[in-house]
Amino acid sequence: MNHFLIRLRAGVTALMISSAAFAQSTIVTSNNPGLDARTDALLRQMTLDEKLGQLSQIFWYKGAPDDRIEKGELGSYLFLTDPQEINRVQHVAVEHSRLHIPLLIGFDVIHGFHTIFPVPIAQAASWDLELNRQIQAAAADEASAVGITWAFAPMVDIARDARWGRMVEGAGEDPFLGSKMATARVQGFQGNTLGAPHHVLACAKHFAGYGAAVGGRDYDAVYLSDTELQNVYLPPFHAAVEAGVGCIMSAYMDINDVPASGNRYLLHDVLRGDWHFNGFVVSDAWAVYNLTAHGFASDPSDAALRGITAGVNMDMGSDSYLHNLPKLLEEGKVTEQEIDAAVRPILRTKFELGLFEHPYVDESKVDAALHNPEHSALAREAAVRSAVLLRNEGGQLPLSKHIHSIAVIGPLADAHKEIQGSWSFGGDPKEVVSVLDGIRTKLGPTVEVHYAAGTTLQREDQPSLNPDKLSPGVGSLAGQEPDASINEAVAVAKASDQVVLVLGEKDDMSGEYASRASLALPGKQQLLLEAIAAIGKPVTLVLVNGRPLDITWASTHVPAILEAWFPGTQGGNAIADLLFGDANPGGKLPVSWPRNVGQEPLYYNRNLSQVHEDSPKFASYYWDEPQFPLYRFGFGLSYSSFTFSNLKLSSPTLTSDGIVVSIDVKNTSGTAGEEVVQLYTHQRFGSASRPARELKGFTRISLQPGETKTITLHVAAKDLSFWSPGTRQRATEASTYDVWVGDSSMAVEHAQFDVTTTMVQR
Ligand code: BGC
Repeated sequence: MNHFLIRLRAGVTALMISSAAFAQSTIVTSNNPGLDARTDALLRQMTLDEKLGQLSQIFWYKGAPDDRIEKGELGSYLFLTDPQEINRVQHVAVEHSRLHIPLLIGFDVIHGFHTIFPVPIAQAASWDLELNRQIQAAAADEASAVGITWAFAPMVDIARDARWGRMVEGAGEDPFLGSKMATARVQGFQGNTLGAPHHVLACAKHFAGYGAAVGGRDYDAVYLSDTELQNVYLPPFHAAVEAGVGCIMSAYMDINDVPASGNRYLLHDVLRGDWHFNGFVVSDAWAVYNLTAHGFASDPSDAALRGITAGVNMDMGSDSYLHNLPKLLEEGKVTEQEIDAAVRPILRTKFELGLFEHPYVDESKVDAALHNPEHSALAREAAVRSAVLLRNEGGQLPLSKHIHSIAVIGPLADAHKEIQGSWSFGGDPKEVVSVLDGIRTKLGPTVEVHYAAGTTLQREDQPSLNPDKLSPGVGSLAGQEPDASINEAVAVAKASDQVVLVLGEKDDMSGEYASRASLALPGKQQLLLEAIAAIGKPVTLVLVNGRPLDITWASTHVPAILEAWFPGTQGGNAIADLLFGDANPGGKLPVSWPRNVGQEPLYYNRNLSQVHEDSPKFASYYWDEPQFPLYRFGFGLSYSSFTFSNLKLSSPTLTSDGIVVSIDVKNTSGTAGEEVVQLYTHQRFGSASRPARELKGFTRISLQPGETKTITLHVAAKDLSFWSPGTRQRATEASTYDVWVGDSSMAVEHAQFDVTTTMVQR
């Protein structure tokens, strides 16, 4: 080792010592001069190639020769999960590279790492922020145990179209619920401060507007007005930034004809300008390179130029920066200052995460971290709290455990891997409790539990561009006849006292590249459902899925329907708890559930318009389908029943402190249960038309039989603000506001208040 290197290493050690002191104090991501000084000191020592290395992330399965890490030409890996290999590559980076900069190890920790929790849309259905925080904290704990330092989550895209498969990854259609979930999830992943032990860097994605893909087709273009962008799609990202998220992922698609990953307005003006975000932006996979595919960048070099000048710090997957920036610098199209500005927040994040001090994991602790019984218990609780009871005619549920026999039927009844949902790479299907497993365990050996799959479930891709090769599509019963498998299931059902039918989607039917034109139950499931319902036994339908499906027939023919979503590792136990009354459903829909796919995009917080007051046909509706969803946003039943009364406001006018709304909620049943108290408002007039109703508060409460609680919800002045196309600013406007509190978006208890002075938000 030469003298220069020795001096350098001593310098790095000194940096490491001073950084240990940082780690103990509460550091937030902004205004930390010490951190900036360390970052700049390191940056000053870096060569161009080393800087470009920090801007580059590659997929591990492609592999990278260690000499690239040794040369400092790699800043981050994704999709590397083996702790031994992570330690090894970190060792190469820390011990063998000139400046000893550790790697960021990123992974899609979407709903758990080894312990798989219910999918994010399900977690949102719990309306339980603390639960959401705990789930991401548990996921971070497991992921960080293997050496992952960065989760590509939460996905905070608003989804108003059930055809879009990635609805499963977010918190649904509502910006208020979405923002609250975004905050809770960021806090869960990151802990109180970046670098908190057992936590990881979070990354809010996909910035921005991805959920509004035309026709619900994944990756398709997005066209959003300023109003929709500002009031619907951006708020959850803003909430994530305010919660201290350290990373934002730029999306794949075009937004208003400018690709999101080359969009300076979004990445620079909004994110860094308006919101003062000072973490870093990573592109979605190959999104920088693909700026060429949009017809935006002229060639890969232009793509790199557009990406970096727009504000993408790190290129995921394509090495566009590494290959093209040196020449662009030579040509004077990019400056060294611009490159430094891109590198700075990445280095700074590595310091903040404490990676320089703790680049390695203790491999002996991995197994215990991944098999933590507390996480299994949390997964079970989460699946219970996420489930939504959609129908329960005649109180069919909960079922009695004192029965002679029960049939558990359906292609998802004994599924393991499939009920985890998409993005479950770290989970072990062998550890997943299927619905059949859960029911068997619950009922014990004295009850006969019969099983039949009834049919199989297979995703049949239609990637062909040749119209002659297309199949007839899903959803039509025409020409379908009950086959031997369905007949066998019918026989099994006939021989049992009760039937639990488990239908829906398998894991790959919702998620990325999983958009659908139909929301019908895939395959022959509708046929199976109708055949089983026809035999006259009490049937309970359990749905496993990542988006609303067309269950309009079931909604009038099957007495009990429980939406379980993709419930994760402990799904079967949780479903058995709910079906047999050891737990009481309390989840609520975070999306409007359509009667018909033709209603999509469908959301409750729409503006109203009517041409003739006394002639309702001149209103926005379809003549062939009721205008309402099958199940409304915020809806969900319970084995208990609740009443709402005595709605009161703290004042007839809202002040800058907001307003306090109180209401009495009573459990009128003999069963303890939980209710989500929801508050909606409507601004009656202003500088722009406002939605008929907007969620502005909620809390999930529990009530003993006969118990009444007075619940208070605080509405801040800011909560009522919106970005107006009339004034082109965000304000809480002087107006009269309606307020409703109740158990769904159709809440009936009503009051009103005024805002007397417009309050502009800066
Ligand atoms: C997805 C991202 C994901 C990335 C890395 C992309 O295809 O859109 O959400 O984080 O892959 O796996």
